[in-house]
Amino acid sequence: MTGTLRSRPTAWLVGIVACAMALVIPDLGTAPGGRAASAEPVRNATIVIEEGGARTGFATPEVTVGAGGAVTVVNLDSMDHTITSVARAADGTPVFDVRVPAGTSATVPGVGTLAAGPWAFFCKLHPGMRGVITVEGVAGGVEPVDTRFEQPLVVPATRRGADVRLVMRRARVRVLPRGRRTAMWTYDGTYPGPTIKRRGGRRTEVTVVNRLPRGAGAMSTHLHGDHHAPADDGQPTTHLVRRGGERTYDYPLVVDGRPEPGSFFWYHDHRMDRTARNNWRGLQGMFIVTDPPRRGLRLPTGRRDLPLMVSERSFSAANQLTDPFAHGPEMVGHHGEMAWSGPHAPPDDATVGDKVLVNGRFAPYLDVSATRYRLRLLNSSPFSSYNFTLSDGRPFLQIGTGSGLLPKAVVRSSVLLGPAQRADVIVDFSGATGQRLVLASVPAAAGATGDDARETPVMEFRVGAPARDASRLPSRLPSPELVSPVPAKVSQTWTFGLEESAHGSYWSINGRAFDPGRVDHRPRLGTVERWRFRNTSDVTHYVHIHAEQWRTLLRDGKRPPPWERGLEDTWRLEPGEEVEVAARFTDYTGPFMIHCHMLDHEDHGMMARFDVVR
Ligand code: C2O
Ligand code: CU
Repeated sequence: MTGTLRSRPTAWLVGIVACAMALVIPDLGTAPGGRAASAEPVRNATIVIEEGGARTGFATPEVTVGAGGAVTVVNLDSMDHTITSVARAADGTPVFDVRVPAGTSATVPGVGTLAAGPWAFFCKLHPGMRGVITVEGVAGGVEPVDTRFEQPLVVPATRRGADVRLVMRRARVRVLPRGRRTAMWTYDGTYPGPTIKRRGGRRTEVTVVNRLPRGAGAMSTHLHGDHHAPADDGQPTTHLVRRGGERTYDYPLVVDGRPEPGSFFWYHDHRMDRTARNNWRGLQGMFIVTDPPRRGLRLPTGRRDLPLMVSERSFSAANQLTDPFAHGPEMVGHHGEMAWSGPHAPPDDATVGDKVLVNGRFAPYLDVSATRYRLRLLNSSPFSSYNFTLSDGRPFLQIGTGSGLLPKAVVRSSVLLGPAQRADVIVDFSGATGQRLVLASVPAAAGATGDDARETPVMEFRVGAPARDASRLPSRLPSPELVSPVPAKVSQTWTFGLEESAHGSYWSINGRAFDPGRVDHRPRLGTVERWRFRNTSDVTHYVHIHAEQWRTLLRDGKRPPPWERGLEDTWRLEPGEEVEVAARFTDYTGPFMIHCHMLDHEDHGMMARFDVVR
């Protein structure tokens, strides 16, 4: 199982405490909630967040509250934070959850109803901030509930043809195990949309038709990771797919005259200022580029090659998506001098959800045989990171990024993925017959200076009998060639930061907010460039570059870790970090984007345009 979310004092200890109270306290009254109360003043508690809490954590991470007491949160920081329980109620939502805007205080709801014992909590917006509320004495009856995996995993339909037609439309889809279906904006009626699967080098034309409801506006579909012309890139403000209209995107799946290497891409909406909303509503799907079969490489195939899109959403009581954008910040200024003000303006713009979905279903399970499986993990969440582990400590053998195989397979006990990042891993379920293994996200190892991963169960594998398995664990892999030699000189530095203007705040690249009409860099077609990313803000960013696949040269001046030695298009960039990458610009001239893939950051300024020129 997922492990004990909170440990409880043993029953005899609770009994002794209760007896002692009854003996010592003569006048045993009853509190309004029906709980036994003593003549002693009720013990309240306070959680304090000081300035810079996102980096330093809660100033009082461990507090104790008496039965019937209250927990107050005082937020002295300049950022919003939440107090969210790790433990969940029967419907999968946190037992307690409160957002405390910067410079305000609040009461943690429902503390009086909690059973005695420690209750771990964290900040949903900065999951590295963690603490524990210990409830003492004869307290309420609310206990955490283990997540139940009640619905089977669904694998999206696969499209293998050269012409793919996807109608964007509102549809009611099954997301939660019970009750009403959820209305989402879909590619072709499902969430995620169909998985497109094509051999590298085989031209693929995807026609996207916009039949979304009035008010959704024009859309733009980006095939994340792929190499194609600017007109086919899903530009944020041009080449849009208007309501009632359609557009055909041309993907040759060729790089510099050679078939594109086997990759795990995904397609999603990319409309300027609306990307977070459009993705939240459901405009996401997967795209697998395959290699020709290679002798000697026997990776799991067929049903044992599983794409898993992991994403989170929140729901109303009627199973409908909440609308985190209804009360979004107000845009002030104009292109180039844009800023946002009001609640949820940067740096408090973080779209998080209560429930983690895999291939569009909450807490699914999958029956597997006790054999090897290839899992293609994609984090398509707007903001949160996941640090994937298996509940029995079973390792992942990582064989690829989302952009191709690694030169050498890497054994990992956990795999951290931020928004838009992918990992291609093999899991061997042998020896686990009869067990239920949980894929969960856990806090990343200490030492990470940036925003941590969420703590949450994700899905369950129900392991059956062993079965015939022709696959083998590879060591060396036929990975795509990396660009070499690389220039010693950096041709462009991109600095990711947060700016405040007279009117508001915005996320910036090189000090400026996105302006679709401004060209920030002009690499030359046919040349190799070395780029550097820097993060001067207080939070982690995930940097994504369109157009090319890149080689990671340096992370903080050192050779990158083994899982970052393949091709890459999205990098984690922690506060103060520096990453250097290199690529050759081939085939296409024109405008492309570089941006943070935390979608609120992208929508609120953290994007820039570069034009490849002759
Ligand atoms: Cu996955 Cu520019 O996006
Ligand atoms: Cu960011």
